[in-house]
Amino acid sequence: MYLIDKHNLPKHIAITMDGNGRWAKTKGKLRIFGHENGVKAVRDTVEGAVEIGIKYLTLYAFSTENWSRPKNEVNALMALLVNAIHKETKTLMDNNIKLDAIGDITKLPQKPQKKLLEAIEKTKNNSKMNLILALSYSGRWEILNATKKIIKNNLSESEINERTFQQYLSTKDVPDPELLIRTSGEYRISNFLLWQIAYSELYFTDTLWPDFRRTDLKEAIKEYQSRERRFGNTN
Ligand code: IPE
Ligand code: IPE
Ligand code: MG
Repeated sequence: MYLIDKHNLPKHIAITMDGNGRWAKTKGKLRIFGHENGVKAVRDTVEGAVEIGIKYLTLYAFSTENWSRPKNEVNALMALLVNAIHKETKTLMDNNIKLDAIGDITKLPQKPQKKLLEAIEKTKNNSKMNLILALSYSGRWEILNATKKIIKNNLSESEINERTFQQYLSTKDVPDPELLIRTSGEYRISNFLLWQIAYSELYFTDTLWPDFRRTDLKEAIKEYQSRERRFGNTN
C-alpha cells in the first residue's frame, strides 16, 4: 500500500538514475542494454510523478564526468537520447509536461543538442509538470559558471547573497528539491545539484535504475513524508 499524503508532497524530486550497467551485467548483456532499459524506467517514473502531482522532476542522465567513459558507450548514450526524445515527445505533450535541461548542453553532439532544443521548444507551454534533464551536468561546473556570470555582470559585493547567487544557477526558476533519490545502492552525490540539495532529504534504494517504477517512487515519497525536516531549528 502506498498511501501518500497529497498535502505533503515534495514540489521537486531529483533522481540520480544509477545502475544501468550492473543491471545489464546481471543479465549477461552489454552495458548499453541496461541504458536502453533505463528508458522504460524513465517513462514509468515520469508518468507516475505526473499522476502523483509532482511539479518538478529532475533526472540526472549524464554527468560531466561521464564524458570520460569509453567512446562507444558515450555514443550509444547520445543515440539513445535522440531516440528517446523522438519517441517520447508525444508522451510529454499528452501529459502536459514541459521539458527542460540543465548542464553544459553546448558540449552535446549536434544532433542530440538539436533534438533536445526542439523538444524543449515544442513543450514550452505545457504546465502540469516540469521535467528537467541534467545532461553534461555537474554541480561544481554550475557553481563556477554562476560565479563567472556574476563577475561578467559586475555585481557588487553587497548585491551577492544566496538569493541573487541562486538566480545565476541553471535551476534559477526551480525550487530546491525536497527529495533526492539515488538508485543502485551507491551512497554518494556524484556532483549532482550541490548548491540545491543543502536541505534535501536523501533516499537511497538498492533497486537498479532499469527496475525502478512508479511504485518505487511512491515508496520514496512515503519515506520522505515520515521524515521530520528541521532546517537547523529545534522542531
Ligand atoms: C547510470 O548507470 C547511467 C549513467 C550514468 C549514464 P551506469 O551506467 O552508471 O551503471 P552502473 O552504475 O555502472 O551500473
Ligand atoms: C552518476 O552516476 C551520474 C548519473 C547517474 C548520470 P555515475 O555512475 O556516473 O556515478 P559514480 O561514478 O558511481 O559516482
Ligand atoms: Mg553508475
